[in-house]
Amino acid sequence: MTIYVKKDEGSTEMNQLTSLLSEISHDHDFDFPAELIPANITETTLLALSEQAKKIMNTVIEYKELMMMYNCALKQIRTKFEILDDEFNVRYQRNPINSINTRLKRSASIREKMKRNNIPLSIENIKTNINDVAGIRVICPYVDDIYSISEALINQEDITLISQKDYIANPKPNGYRSMHLIISIPVYFADHSEQMKIEVQIRTIAMDFWATLEHQLKYKEQTAIGESIIAELKECADIISNTDAKMLNIRKEIEESADNLTDDDVLFEKMRKIDSPLI
Ligand code: GTP
Ligand code: MG
Repeated sequence: MTIYVKKDEGSTEMNQLTSLLSEISHDHDFDFPAELIPANITETTLLALSEQAKKIMNTVIEYKELMMMYNCALKQIRTKFEILDDEFNVRYQRNPINSINTRLKRSASIREKMKRNNIPLSIENIKTNINDVAGIRVICPYVDDIYSISEALINQEDITLISQKDYIANPKPNGYRSMHLIISIPVYFADHSEQMKIEVQIRTIAMDFWATLEHQLKYKEQTAIGESIIAELKECADIISNTDAKMLNIRKEIEESADNLTDDDVLFEKMRKIDSPLI
C-alpha cells in the first residue's frame, strides 16, 4: 500500500494522520513513503482524507483478522485428518492418507472471484459468498480411503456439511475426479467462537497426478486447448481411473489372503509392529 502524505508543521490533522500512518505501518508491516501532498490542500479535504485513511486501515486490519481465522480453521481440520490417519494406522497398520496440503486463497483471487460473480467486495460478503477462501487437499492411496475418511469427517459432531460433490461417482466431462466437500467448523478464540467454511478436496494419488498436470496445461498457454487434446486428457483420466480400480483390487486380494490368518496370528502381527512410528 502506498499512501502519499504531506508534512505540514502547522496542521494538527496532518500531524495526526502522519503519526497514525506511521504507527499502523509499523505495526502491520506496510510499506509507504511519506511524500508531499499539494500545498494548497484545505483543512476539510485533509479531514476527509484522514477519515478515509482510517477506514482503509480498519478494513485492512479486519481482512487480516479474517485470514487469521481461516488459517486457524485449516489448522483444526488438518489435525482432524491427521487423527483419523493415526487411528487407522494403529488399527489396520495402513495409512489412508498419503499427504495433506492446505492453502489460503490469495486476495487477488478473492477479488477476481467476487468481480466475476458480481458481488460487492466487503468482509461480510467474502465470508458468506466465497466457500474456498480456506482449502485443504487430502491425498489418499486408494479410492475406498476417500469414502472412509470423508464419511468419518462428516460424522463428527462439530462438522456441518454445507455441500458435497462426488466427482468420482460422477466425473466431470473432462475426466476430473475428486470428492469435494464444503464444510463449516467452529473455531474458538479468546472471547468468542466463529463458524468458518472450508473447501475440502479428497482424491487419490493418481487422481491428483492427473488434476495437477491438467491444471498446469490449462493455464500454461493463453490459447484455448483444442478438441483433440481435451479428448486425450479425458482418455488419460479414464486410464488412471482403471489403474486406481486395479490397485484397489490388488490390495483387497492381499487382504483376503491375510483373512486366513488366525486371531492369534493377527494379534502377534500387531504386537510385532507395536513400536513402529506413527507416520
Ligand atoms: P470454483 O471453480 O472454485 O468457483 O468452484 P465450483 O463451484 O466450480 O466448484 P467445483 O467443486 O466444481 O471446483 C472447485 C475446485 O476444484 C476448483 O477450484 C479446482 O481446484 C478443482 N477443480 C474443479 N474442476 C477441475 C478440473 O476440471 N481440473 C482441475 N485440475 N481441477 C478442478
Ligand atoms: Mg476454487
